[in-house]
Amino acid sequence: MGIITAVPNRILVTGGAGFIGSHTVRALVDSGERVRVLDSLRPPVHPPGRRPDLPDEVEFIEGSVDDRAALRAALADIDVVYHLAAYQDYLTDFSTFYAINTVSTALIYELALAEKLPLRRVILAATQAEYGEGPYRCPTDGTVYPAPRADAQLAEHRWEPACPRCGGTISPIPAREDVVHPHSPYAMSKRAAEECALTLGDRYGIPTAALRYSIVQGPGQSFRNAYSGALRAFTVQALHGRRPLVYEDGQQIRDFVWIGDVVAANLLMLHHPAVPTGSFNVGGDREVRVLDVARMVSAAIGTDLEPDVPGIYRVGDTRHIRSDVTRLRELGWRPTATQEDMVAAYVGWARAQPDMADTSIVAVRRMRELGVLRQAATR
Ligand SMILES: NC(=O)c1ccc[n+]([C@@H]2O[C@H](COP(=O)([O-])OP(=O)(O)OC[C@H]3O[C@@H](n4cnc5c(N)ncnc54)[C@H](O)[C@@H]3O)[C@@H](O)[C@H]2O)c1
Repeated sequence: MGIITAVPNRILVTGGAGFIGSHTVRALVDSGERVRVLDSLRPPVHPPGRRPDLPDEVEFIEGSVDDRAALRAALADIDVVYHLAAYQDYLTDFSTFYAINTVSTALIYELALAEKLPLRRVILAATQAEYGEGPYRCPTDGTVYPAPRADAQLAEHRWEPACPRCGGTISPIPAREDVVHPHSPYAMSKRAAEECALTLGDRYGIPTAALRYSIVQGPGQSFRNAYSGALRAFTVQALHGRRPLVYEDGQQIRDFVWIGDVVAANLLMLHHPAVPTGSFNVGGDREVRVLDVARMVSAAIGTDLEPDVPGIYRVGDTRHIRSDVTRLRELGWRPTATQEDMVAAYVGWARAQPDMADTSIVAVRRMRELGVLRQAATR
């Protein structure tokens, strides 16, 4: 598989105008690769009429990954695909998640076979969301996988999941790659895409790796998409003089990962002599509470805005999740940035953006209308 380490490879990055995509594209160009991007420039991440900010050497095709003709044109003469384009939201158009995320993945392999393409490597953006609530340790029952918390439970401010066997208290443990329990439409569509890619890649000799990123942070993470991403929501709110709005009680555990470390993982999958295949977690390898992130944002901005914790919750949210990154560490990768570094870098970048509207007000209103965001009973 020497071609993968030889430079230049001809590389297609779908979703290459997005947050992770554009950072990855720049790193690929800097390391001498020839890069083509296929991106539909979807709003709200891309405001209508604005060209993506990509290096001049990059060949840009505007089109959708579920459009057979556009994907066929984008795949012509390509050695390596980074499939990063995705539909990601908290809304209720369930079929769109599959139509974009899963069908496009199958289409890459379908076209590779039908057109006898020289494709020899696929690196797929998967997600920590595939773990759902993830694994927990029960003192009585060992490792258990609780189901999503019921609405009736959350409405009573009972945020912690209980042991599905004995009903007792359980503690979260880092998720390894072998067991997934996706439950959001986004995560289910990504899971299906990953299974499709790994199975077809194996069957048809196109070595495929799926990188399950945890929540990625860094400059360029669009503040226009306010439905997800605690850091961007807190930053937008605090920079507009509003208290960061924290869901549940703020004690949720997360393991945010630095964009630079994600890019390093993406490039490692291209350059590693073993051509690794299968699923790999890409996480921060440390845990942080969401409330602490909100406080870090206020500190980085230099305001004394205290987080607002009004007891609202988002249906389907995971209480705690942290990824075990042992598999990726064994390939020589390791996370580098502290949580404080990540917050400072994002706040600094967001501050410098001239058009930072307070998108979170609209997002919160819309999620309430759709019943995605709910208020727990007043106490
Ligand atoms: N950001 C995270 O925290 C995170 C975490 C886990 C997984 N991921 C995955 O990483 C990938 C990149 O995420 P991101 O944070 O850079 O998102 P992003 O929204 O910044 O970028 C996604 C890009 O894909 C493009 N796109 C969307 N639908 C498309 C379509 N049908 N055809 C072509 N292009 C399309 C968008 O225009 C955008 O430029 C996604 O697959 C996402 O699911 C991201």
